[in-house]
Amino acid sequence: MSKLVVQGGVPLCGVLEVQGAKNSVLPIMAAALLADGDCIIEHCPDISDTDSAIEILGALGAFVTEKRESDGSRTVYINASNALGFEIPDDMMRKMRSSVMFLGAILSRRHRAIISFPGGCELGPRPIDLHISALKKMGADITEQHGYIDCECDRLYGTVIDLAFPSVGATENIMLAAVLADGETIINNAAKEPEIEDLQNFLNKMGAKICGAGSSRIKIKGVKALNGTRHRVIPDRIAAGTYLCAVAATRGNALIKNTEPRHLSSVLSFLTDCGCDIDILENDISVSCDELHAVRHIRTMPYPGFPTDMQAVCMALMTKAKGSSVFTETIFENRFKHVGELHRMGAKIRTDGRVAVVEGVKKLYGARVESTDLRGGAALVVAALSAEGTSVIENISHIERGYDNIEKALSSLGAKITRQQ
Ligand code: UD1
Repeated sequence: MSKLVVQGGVPLCGVLEVQGAKNSVLPIMAAALLADGDCIIEHCPDISDTDSAIEILGALGAFVTEKRESDGSRTVYINASNALGFEIPDDMMRKMRSSVMFLGAILSRRHRAIISFPGGCELGPRPIDLHISALKKMGADITEQHGYIDCECDRLYGTVIDLAFPSVGATENIMLAAVLADGETIINNAAKEPEIEDLQNFLNKMGAKICGAGSSRIKIKGVKALNGTRHRVIPDRIAAGTYLCAVAATRGNALIKNTEPRHLSSVLSFLTDCGCDIDILENDISVSCDELHAVRHIRTMPYPGFPTDMQAVCMALMTKAKGSSVFTETIFENRFKHVGELHRMGAKIRTDGRVAVVEGVKKLYGARVESTDLRGGAALVVAALSAEGTSVIENISHIERGYDNIEKALSSLGAKITRQQ
């Protein structure tokens, strides 16, 4: 299994372009299943989760090719006109959580879908009850047996769905099921993440009639058919936030390009509060940092609140800040697995349930650590970059799920980081 070897202590400086958003491209790839004709997806990140999505599309009978553009970005072409499959093999379901996003799309297209429970990062229990109950309300007959979910319907019907929690995945799955349903679907208490707006924009270009994404009420008028389209995926706000934190952690000075600063407002406020100088020029963010002080309390919340996906990385940053900070994780039950690994580098962190208290230390020291999940792994990279000495980060398959060539991106800012087998 691959590992990253990081020699810490080098201030990161220079210019870095951010990848397309993982959490946008995955539901968009599922949406491509609904088109008659070619869908062309630009700025598709080269990460293992998109490879998993391509594998699923292939298993369902879609034709997928890709091209490397002259600027190095990746364009994926999907033609699902002959994708008549309705069953996703168990090994593919287990590779990532977003595999569940195909459920709404397959059901919408084939009126039958068989999947097993999705995999993905282990952050505590991750039920899909909200997805299932919404699809049932839209007319699907769903049975669960031995870990498999079998869904069938004559048609799907528009209805009003009041989500008990603004789940990102459930909101997207309902949108995918509702675009070709009979009548109008309204999602109340919808998730407001920017990736949902990106999905709306993609589907509308395909001929869907959706409005309200980005607010807590989304309206979807079912249409008869959808066409292919071309779309550029929005910038990845979590990758951008990770690189901003990496620069701050090393007391560096860099320009992070291809960002959507609007999507990063809670993270940028956090960075400003802890002493970073942030400047925004359209889609570029410059960051520099001389001294870091602790931000008292960080509480993860659904968008536009502080993203749970930035919790681990920001915690890594706070390990060397002056003073103490408190992190409260409200979205996932068990998202502090990185803490034990940060301890190995000399961090002082106490956890109690969903609360972690970080007491800033003067130095972190290079160590052999293990990536425990996607964002936890990125947090270890940020800590290693700011530590004295060499760190080895094992099990980087987690990191590869969401970061497009992280070692190349960080090396372009001067980091001493290499991948080894
Ligand atoms: C998405 C993101 C992930 C991010 C998360 C929260 C993608 C591909 N992934 O994951 O990076 O960390 O949003 O911002 O977009 N829940 C239920 N029942 C359900 C669905 C969810 O109880 O049916 C709970 C989950 O267990 C969790 C919370 O709701 O505690 C948030 O989950 P959700 O918003 O659905 O996250 P994902 O879509 O899995």
